[in-house]
Amino acid sequence: MNSVYTTTITRAARARGLRVTVLDPSQPVFELRRGRAAVRCFNALTDRVGAATFFLANHKHAANQFLRRHGFPVPAQLKFSTWAAAEKFLARHRHIVVKPCMQWGGRGVAVDVRTPAELRAAVRRAQTFEDEVVLEQCVSGEDQRLILVGGKYVAAIRRTPATVTGDGRRTLAQLIRRQNRRACAADSSHRIPLDTETRRQLARLGHDLAEVPSAGVRVQVRLTSNYHTGGDAAVITAEVTPSLRRVAQRVARLYGLPMVGIDFLVDARRGKFWIIEVSPDLAISPPEGATVVEYFLDDLFPGSRPGKQAGLPWGGKLKKAGRQLDNALTVP
Ligand SMILES: Nc1ncnc2c1ncn2[C@@H]1O[C@H](COP(=O)(O)OP(=O)(O)O)[C@@H](O)[C@H]1O
Ligand SMILES: [Mg+2]
Repeated sequence: MNSVYTTTITRAARARGLRVTVLDPSQPVFELRRGRAAVRCFNALTDRVGAATFFLANHKHAANQFLRRHGFPVPAQLKFSTWAAAEKFLARHRHIVVKPCMQWGGRGVAVDVRTPAELRAAVRRAQTFEDEVVLEQCVSGEDQRLILVGGKYVAAIRRTPATVTGDGRRTLAQLIRRQNRRACAADSSHRIPLDTETRRQLARLGHDLAEVPSAGVRVQVRLTSNYHTGGDAAVITAEVTPSLRRVAQRVARLYGLPMVGIDFLVDARRGKFWIIEVSPDLAISPPEGATVVEYFLDDLFPGSRPGKQAGLPWGGKLKKAGRQLDNALTVP
């Protein structure tokens, strides 16, 4: 039950006087309560999200088709059925991504697949996670996740793929292991996998695990930007263009999700962007989690933010925190 994805919520909830009841200690399932109002949560996914809406967002093929039908830019996609159709799709797009339909954290995702042999290996690997697999046109751009609560834009992060920094002595494999040991001390899920996909992606990036990078040279070692494949995130709330925020607001409205993370790949140079994922079960965690969680709790329990109510005993301290949050979001 106790991971950063639950504690970011439960600590903030307790700080505003909400009651937290753990419903299953072995799962991230808990209830938040304020008087008679109660909401059940699985991490940040609440019972306010209907099952059909969850499916339409979480299933990568359903989401891609749904967004396309409503005129949003998404990469071309094909649900895997036969090798002949898959090879035709690869021949048309030349660079493709293969991914399972309902996973998360980059699990089973192969980026920049170019040959029929790579395609077969990638589909077979994705199928070890689940039967349904999609092939998607590989697009390039900066990975920006926009987070909306109650239809309002509240935060954004830029996600970047894992890198390691050379010291002129260690090989890439040793540098990755070292970085993983350090990352594991803080969060064991923030690791760069040392698997066949990392080896393939490294080759695509022009490197191999035995290589010894010079001191101070940073080497990108993955193509996926997931935190769970060792990627990093930086808060860019104030930097996101108004037009992208508007697109995200339209997506949030279309889905009617109380909270949603919308992942874009943004090619600013060519003025293009694509939506690659819609997360109804967004991870509320650092670096943007402290901001997002306050909006999340405001939305679930309106009026519960202490700073907004006069006379509450904890008002002063959190009022200041609330002001800081609002200030953080209005930086030009
Ligand atoms: N069509 C694509 N083109 C380029 N990169 C992609 C594409 N789809 C996914 N990726 C990369 O792979 C990562 C994981 O894919 P995603 O669809 O978000 O699955 P997951 O649910 O596992 O995060 C993305 O964050 C991005 O870095
Ligand atoms: Mg993703």
